[in-house]
Amino acid sequence: MHSSIDSYGVMGYPVSHSYSPEIHNLFALQTQQKIKYDLLQVSPNELESKISEFKSKGGKGLNITLPHKTEVFKLANQITERASIAGAVNTLTFRNDKVFGDNTDGVGLIRDLSVNLEIPLKNKNILILGAGGATRGIISLILEMKPKSLLIANRTIDKAEVLANQVSHLGQVSTCHLDAIPAFKNYDLIINATSAGIKGENSIYPTGIILNKTYCYDLSYGLKPTPFYEWAVNSGAHQSFMGWGMLVEQAAESFNIWRGIRPNTAPVLKKLITNA
Ligand code: ATR
Repeated sequence: MHSSIDSYGVMGYPVSHSYSPEIHNLFALQTQQKIKYDLLQVSPNELESKISEFKSKGGKGLNITLPHKTEVFKLANQITERASIAGAVNTLTFRNDKVFGDNTDGVGLIRDLSVNLEIPLKNKNILILGAGGATRGIISLILEMKPKSLLIANRTIDKAEVLANQVSHLGQVSTCHLDAIPAFKNYDLIINATSAGIKGENSIYPTGIILNKTYCYDLSYGLKPTPFYEWAVNSGAHQSFMGWGMLVEQAAESFNIWRGIRPNTAPVLKKLITNA
């Protein structure tokens, strides 16, 4: 028999570090929705069976995190365009015996930048460091904001070029090697979408590209300042941010897809950072 409380969860491997249960439970409390949200540690070889099991027990939706975001793509009956461009799904919704896949990372970033931090993107010069999964997740949403220019710098330039070609119908994207970022470009916003630094490598970030008007945003977040965040502060950035706001905003978008109600993210973000 199905439970009367709608059931959600996050599947990942490992998943114990995930803040999603805390965030969704705070959203539920705030919006007076009765839901259950569980941490579900699922290894790659049991992903498909665990999703089917969750669905057959009446589960309503899942967040999908590393390393399953790409694999789960194939298991959805319908995919949004933004998830298709991202090549990754972070939100599954089970409705009328169908599985809907979406990716809320990009919109989460845009909402944090535009609404919470009030950083304008339209007509601005934007630089993204990295061309992996994180960049794929945000690129179509960034282009929708109509920046003046968008440059992707990556250690493996081919990957940046493939991505730029893939989204060329949405807007123009230039590419360059991480070691050859033009210093004269007047960047308004630099986004770190590399996974460098997390494993303790030496700084990969170039000198001379930050002005005192430049905003810097790291898609990574941590209890301690991330290497990119510190590099930006030390290089004289106007302001430097870690991705806590994006984390809460992408969750709010998932919550909205599932529950049809958008929570107020500011108090949740505050509480999350205080409790972290
Ligand atoms: P994915 O997100 O596709 O799984 P990843 O290995 O986590 O990939 O890497 C994400 C991004 O961080 C990539 O742009 C990667 O550069 P490459 O495409 O050249 O691999 C970048 N990255 C990771 N470690 C790096 C390092 N030490 N120096 C420079 N870039 C790095």
